[in-house]
Amino acid sequence: MSLLSIRDLRTEFQSPSGVARAVDGVSFDVAPGEIFGIVGESGCGKSATCRSILRLFGGAQAKVAGGRILLEGAGDLAAMPERELAQVRGRDVAFIFQDPLTALNPTMRIGKQIAEVILRHRKVGRTEARAQALQLLRDVHVTSPERRLDAYPHELSGGLRQRVVIAMALALRPKLIIADEPTTALDVTVQDQILRLLRERRDSLGASIILVTHDLGVVSQICDRMAVMYAGRLVESGRVREVLDAPSHPYTRALLAALPGQTGRDEELTPIEGAPPSLISPPPGCRFAPRCALAQPRCREGGPPPLLSRKGLAAGHLDACILNEAADAAA
Ligand SMILES: Nc1ncnc2c1ncn2[C@@H]1O[C@H](COP(=O)(O)OP(=O)(O)OP(=O)(O)O)[C@@H](O)[C@H]1O
Ligand SMILES: [Mg+2]
Repeated sequence: MSLLSIRDLRTEFQSPSGVARAVDGVSFDVAPGEIFGIVGESGCGKSATCRSILRLFGGAQAKVAGGRILLEGAGDLAAMPERELAQVRGRDVAFIFQDPLTALNPTMRIGKQIAEVILRHRKVGRTEARAQALQLLRDVHVTSPERRLDAYPHELSGGLRQRVVIAMALALRPKLIIADEPTTALDVTVQDQILRLLRERRDSLGASIILVTHDLGVVSQICDRMAVMYAGRLVESGRVREVLDAPSHPYTRALLAALPGQTGRDEELTPIEGAPPSLISPPPGCRFAPRCALAQPRCREGGPPPLLSRKGLAAGHLDACILNEAADAAA
């Protein structure tokens, strides 16, 4: 049973040079209480995927052009009118951005900001909302929480600000928290504390989390399942241990070889040659083929290959490699 079921999601950005298909046929499921990681190189569409769920595109000229975003108990978010979706934001699904400053109002005291979120959605008075804000700060282990209620965002460190943002995200006890690189702007020790905090809140509230990160170490540390994204599509997904221990798509293998800290050994890093393709006019066939050492002529033909289960891989471990498909067919 899934809390969130994304099917064939397509999201387009209008840019001066044309329509960028930032998300181009993405499907995945998130189970209740699960932490789902999304990894991939810069520009592959991780944020676009996350932002599509709540249609939070900032000022960008972007739209969900197709597919379904089924949230348990709420229906298809992709088909929902803006007014209804506004109710889902914060209440059912919360979004944590990379930079906590963008999520906070610089001119409003912390306590008031958290209380506003509660007042907007719940029938409680100001005193009760403030008491709940105080408890939320305690829940995310903010020290001297009474004093912080009256602080402005700029008076807090980056780590504290991100804790406040998480407290705000948790205020309405959402079923799903989307965290788009929530620790990238923080230093390493603080990163660790924030990740532990997210996992702890998942454990105590049973919320699901989608966690976008560049860091496979983070994925291996706190995620249950993961997806690897390349040029607007998923190329592999499955349980974290299975994907990291037995990567099946050549891109996942290349990514693992290019990033430090996977095995704990002093391994040699091999950067992936070349650059990802344009999302305005991607190549036919497998989008990784132009950079793939194993690519065959058939990898460069036809439409982009779908994510499929494979013989020899664990149930639920999927990949989108044309060569693996051919090997399965020959077996
Ligand atoms: N504001 C924008 N205007 C136009 N196109 C955009 C905009 N934001 C994203 N895109 C397009 O969408 C693609 C995916 O962007 P996205 O931000 O989802 O990447 P990402 O995987 O989150 O990268 P990063 O790891 O750097 O955060 C980009 O490559 C670009 O083509
Ligand atoms: Mg991003």
